[in-house]
Amino acid sequence: MTTEPLFDSTQFRRVCGHFPTGVTAVTARTADGRVAALTVNSFTSVSLDPAKVLFCLAHSSSSFQTLTDAERIAIHILSQEQEDVARRFATSGLSGEERLGGVGWTPGPGGVPLLPETPAILAGHPAEIITSGDHVIILVAVDHVHLKPSETPALSFYQGRFTTPVVAATD
Ligand SMILES: Cc1cc2nc3c(=O)[nH]c(=O)nc-3n(C[C@H](O)[C@H](O)[C@H](O)COP(=O)(O)O)c2cc1C
Repeated sequence: MTTEPLFDSTQFRRVCGHFPTGVTAVTARTADGRVAALTVNSFTSVSLDPAKVLFCLAHSSSSFQTLTDAERIAIHILSQEQEDVARRFATSGLSGEERLGGVGWTPGPGGVPLLPETPAILAGHPAEIITSGDHVIILVAVDHVHLKPSETPALSFYQGRFTTPVVAATD
């Protein structure tokens, strides 16, 4: 039996927006050299052994084709100092190359763009892509991690705004 929801998509977004998240910048590279770059807050870790993480990607995203074709994907957990990257990677009308053109990056394993100023990076290959509603869930098998110790708090997103509620550990 299907029941009609008693709310609209704006209310749904507003309610989900009460869940504070971190903010990641996802980059990807296909075997034929296409690149994608976008801001993602649907990131979560899934499995420790083997190491797997996931994020959700809208079918409507201009990055959809490149990300679903990608050979390598890198997920950058952004710091408060990288809000400009988060805003740039979320800008409609810019291609992956154009988004990356505005920030410093270096090629990582398999040529995937890495943003070296990021405190924590996970890189790997897409292990599974599951369609669900108007998004796909992309599971990434992680084979490289990078940590750059920093006392700068993580960039966070809450109720539609970038915030900084997460304080870095001091020990
Ligand atoms: C804080 C934040 C989090 C986002 N998280 C996601 C996400 O998890 N999945 C997704 O597909 N798009 C997400 N987006 C949207 C994309 O970053 C991008 O803005 C959107 O795809 C529009 O770009 P396009 O017009 O080139 O498709 C997020 C945007 C912001 C600002």
